[in-house]
Amino acid sequence: MTAIQPAIQVVDTPAALARAAAAVFVRVGQAAITANGRFAVALSGGSTPKALFTLLATDGAFNTALAWDRVHVFWGDERCVPPDHADSNYRMAREAMLDRLPIPASNVQRIEAEDPDPRRAAERYEQTLRAFFQPEAHQPPRFDLVLLGMGPDGHTASLFPDSTALAERERWVIANWVAKFNAYRITLTALALGNADHILFLVGGADKADTLRDVLYGAPQPCRLPAQSIQARHGELTWLVDRAAASRLPAEAGVSTALRA
Ligand code: 6PG
Repeated sequence: MTAIQPAIQVVDTPAALARAAAAVFVRVGQAAITANGRFAVALSGGSTPKALFTLLATDGAFNTALAWDRVHVFWGDERCVPPDHADSNYRMAREAMLDRLPIPASNVQRIEAEDPDPRRAAERYEQTLRAFFQPEAHQPPRFDLVLLGMGPDGHTASLFPDSTALAERERWVIANWVAKFNAYRITLTALALGNADHILFLVGGADKADTLRDVLYGAPQPCRLPAQSIQARHGELTWLVDRAAASRLPAEAGVSTALRA
């Protein structure tokens, strides 16, 4: 299947990044609720989305813009810690956003990554997704929006360079051994993430500039640069990046520029 070409949008500052992302979140959410009566979003961890979540919960332009009881929240990945741990992606989203918005608890489906058996936690989350999305046979979940970040090493969600999850072609959720942390992470696979209607990468900071250039303009090498493994199969894929992260991109990259193949 031919992948849809991504778009890149460059904004000046990290604050502008959060604001632009919040506008996308609300626009996609409103459209999904109008069309389907619900908005299914997969959140990411990391520091960049924290500013987005805070803005969604506290800024009057955003926190009254969605029917929050129609919003269904999932995660693209989780660290193998209890939900109240400082490293928990769920905890970050709960504190920054979920506790401050009228989203019913039953609409929030976290990855139970505190399970001592990470494979069991991954299987259980896949079942959770199957129960929610009730896909046709062999179809991956169809999120309305998947939020992703990217590390300086090119990882996204918990798909790390040279990790086994990158070879997975059937499962939606997998326990992925991450050698550099000497730990498992639970992550959705590229199969599951790439099937969304909208995929939004948020990338800020000069430390990611070289990697961003390689991911977007370099040769395909998804095992070294897992962010390249996220291909939009039928939806929109947008890279929202700040000026510092964009500093090594070719001059033609800019606001909503469609990238070359
Ligand atoms: C996580 C993530 C991860 C994150 C990137 C970028 O659990 O850590 O989901 O993939 O998105 O590491 O994180 P920053 O935005 O903090 O750089």
